[in-house]
Amino acid sequence: MNTTSQELDQKQAVTALRRKDLLGIAELSPGEIELVLDTAEAMKEVGTRPIKKVPALRGKTVVNLFYEPSTRTRTSFEIAEKRLSADTLNIAIGTSSVVKGETLADTALNLEAMSPDMIVLRHASSGACHFLSRVCRSAIINAGDGMHEHPTQALLDAFTIRERKKRLAGLKIAIIGDLLHSRVLRSNIHLLTKLGANVWVCGPPTLIPADIRRFGVTATSAVEEAVHDADVIMLLRIQLERMEGAYFPSLREYFRVFGMTEARLQLARPDVMIMHPGPMNRGVEIASEVADGPYSVILDQVANGVAVRMAVLYLLAGGAEHEEAA
Ligand code: CP
Repeated sequence: MNTTSQELDQKQAVTALRRKDLLGIAELSPGEIELVLDTAEAMKEVGTRPIKKVPALRGKTVVNLFYEPSTRTRTSFEIAEKRLSADTLNIAIGTSSVVKGETLADTALNLEAMSPDMIVLRHASSGACHFLSRVCRSAIINAGDGMHEHPTQALLDAFTIRERKKRLAGLKIAIIGDLLHSRVLRSNIHLLTKLGANVWVCGPPTLIPADIRRFGVTATSAVEEAVHDADVIMLLRIQLERMEGAYFPSLREYFRVFGMTEARLQLARPDVMIMHPGPMNRGVEIASEVADGPYSVILDQVANGVAVRMAVLYLLAGGAEHEEAA
C-alpha cells in the first residue's frame, strides 16, 4: 500500500472491527477504539429499556474462562453476553480438570470441540491470550493476562471519561499506584496516548517500570506534581499478590506519601474525576472519603463495563454485517 492510500484509509471512519480477537489495546487503531466507544453508547441505551435484551448474538456461544479471581469483569461479561442473547458458560476452574494438571491449550481445545464462538480468558500469565489465539478457532477476548493488558478495562475507562468530559484529547490524566504490576496501566497508556490525552504516571520509584517514558507518558514520584491541575485521577491497587519483595516500607507509609486524600484532591481541577478499576484497598491507595465522595465515578466505571463489553462482543461477532447476514 502506498503512503497516499494509507493516509486516505486513516482518514476514513472505521465501521467494523475486522479482527478475530481482542488481545490488547496496543494493536488497535484510534479509529477502532472510537468505533468501540461509539458502539458502547448504543449498547448503554439497551440497558435502560424495560426488557434489557437484543437478539444480536442469538445462536452464538461464549465461554468465560477465568483462571484468576474476578468480580467486575466476569460478571459484566456474563451480563453483556446475556443482553446480546448469546448462550454463555462459566467455567469454574477450581472444579474443572485444570486442578488435575490439564494445560491451558488442552482445556481450550477440549472446550472448542463443543463449538463455542468466543472464549473470554483471564489468566495469570502475560501472553496467555496471544497463545490461545494461535491455537483456537474461536475469537479470544482478553479479560486480563498477567501484567500485560486488560483491554476492556481501558475501553470502559475511556468511555467513562468521554461521557463526562466529551473528549480525551488534551486532558491531563494522572495514574497513581502500583505501575509495575498493572495490566490496567499498560492498556490505559496505549489507549489514552493514542487518543491524545496528556498521561502522567506516579508511584514509588521501585514501582515505576524502567522503560515507561518510551510510551509517551510523564513519570514522577511526586504525587502533588502528578495531581496538579489533573482532569482525571486514576488510582491503581497495590498488588501484594504479585510482589515477591518489599517495594516500600509499609502500607501505612504508602498511604502517607501516595494515598489519595481530600487534601491532595484540592490540587486537581475543580471538576476532577476520581477513578479506580477495583478492587480498592481503602486506606492504602485511596481514602474512603475520596472513594465515596462527589468526584468519584468508580461505580459508573462498573456500570459502563457492561455496555463496553457488549460493544466488543457485538463487533467481534461481525457487528451490523453479521446481523444482516443472519
Ligand atoms: N477491574 C477488574 O478487573 O476487576 P475484577 O478483578 O473484579 O474483574
